[in-house]
Amino acid sequence: MTLRVLTRTEPPRVERFSQWARIAHWGHTFTFVILLITGLMLFSNTIFGWIGPAFLGANNAGTVHRIMAVFYTIIPLVALFMNPKGFIGWWKDVLSFGKNDIIFLTKFPFEFMGFPVKMPPQTQFNGGEKMNSVVTTTSCVFLAISGYIMWFPEYFPLGLVQWMPPLHDVTMILATTMVCMHSYLGSFHPGSGESFWGMWKGTVRKDWAAHHHPKWLEKVEGEGSGH
Ligand code: HEM
Ligand code: HEM
Repeated sequence: MTLRVLTRTEPPRVERFSQWARIAHWGHTFTFVILLITGLMLFSNTIFGWIGPAFLGANNAGTVHRIMAVFYTIIPLVALFMNPKGFIGWWKDVLSFGKNDIIFLTKFPFEFMGFPVKMPPQTQFNGGEKMNSVVTTTSCVFLAISGYIMWFPEYFPLGLVQWMPPLHDVTMILATTMVCMHSYLGSFHPGSGESFWGMWKGTVRKDWAAHHHPKWLEKVEGEGSGH
C-alpha cells in the first residue's frame, strides 16, 4: 500500500488592514452596538425596557451608555495615534472619489440583485465603501458631539443644548441604517466573504483583491505593503 501525503497549497494573500485598523474597527463595532441598545432603552423604556436585564436593569442604561461613549471616543483616537499612516491612506483613498466610483454606485444595485455586472477597476475602497466611510464617520462625530453636550449641558448655551436630543436621535437612525447595510455587505453578501477576513485576519486572497480592488493591489505590490 502506498502512502499518499495530501498537501494543500494556500492561495497567496496580501495585507489589507493593519492590526490597529482592525482593533479600531471591531472596538468601534462593539461599543456602537452597546451604545445603540442602551440608547434605545434611554429613548423609550416602555418599548425597549425588556432589554434591561442584560444591562443590570434599565436604571443602569445611562451609566453603561456613558462608559461605552468614553471607549467609543478613545478607541479611534488611540488607533489614529498608533497608525497615522494607515488613517491618512484611508482618507486619501476615500477623497479620491471619481468617475469609476460613480459608475460602481450606479451598477451596484444590479450586482446586489444577482445580475452579472462588469465593474470598473476600484482602488482600496470601492465607491460604496467610500460613501460608507464618509456617512458613518460623519454621523459618529455628530453622535459624539451631541452626546457630550447632553452629558455636560451646564457648559453650553441652553439654545444649543435643546437641539442635541433630536440631533442625537436623527443621527442615530442614519448611522444605524448605514451600519445594518454595511454589516450585511461586509459579511454574508455573496462575494464579500473575503472582505470579512480582511477585517478579521488582516489579509485577503490576492485573486480576490485582483478582482475587487485591482488598482489597490497594483499599488500595494509596487510599495510592498498594505495599510
Ligand atoms: C461619544 C458618543 C456618545 C455619547 C457621549 C452619548 C451620550 C448620550 C447621553 C448623555 C444621552 C442622554 C442620556 C440620558 O438621558 O440619561 C444619550 C442618549 C441617547 N443616545 Fe447616546 N451617546 C453617544 C453615542 C451614541 C450612539 C453611537 C448611539 C446609537 C447608535 C446613541 C444613541 C442614543 C439614544 C437613542 C439616546 C436616547 C435619546 C433620547 O432619549 O431622545 N448614542 N446619549
Ligand atoms: C458586525 C458588524 C460589522 C461588520 C460585519 C463589518 C464588516 C466590515 C468589513 C468586512 C470591512 C472591510 C471592507 C473592505 O474590505 O474594505 C469594514 C470596513 C469598514 N467598517 Fe465595518 N463592519 C461592521 C460594523 C461597523 C460599524 C458599527 C461601523 C461604524 C460605526 C463600521 C464602519 C466601517 C468603515 C468606516 C469601514 C471602511 C469603509 C468600508 O469598507 O466600508 N463597521 N467593515
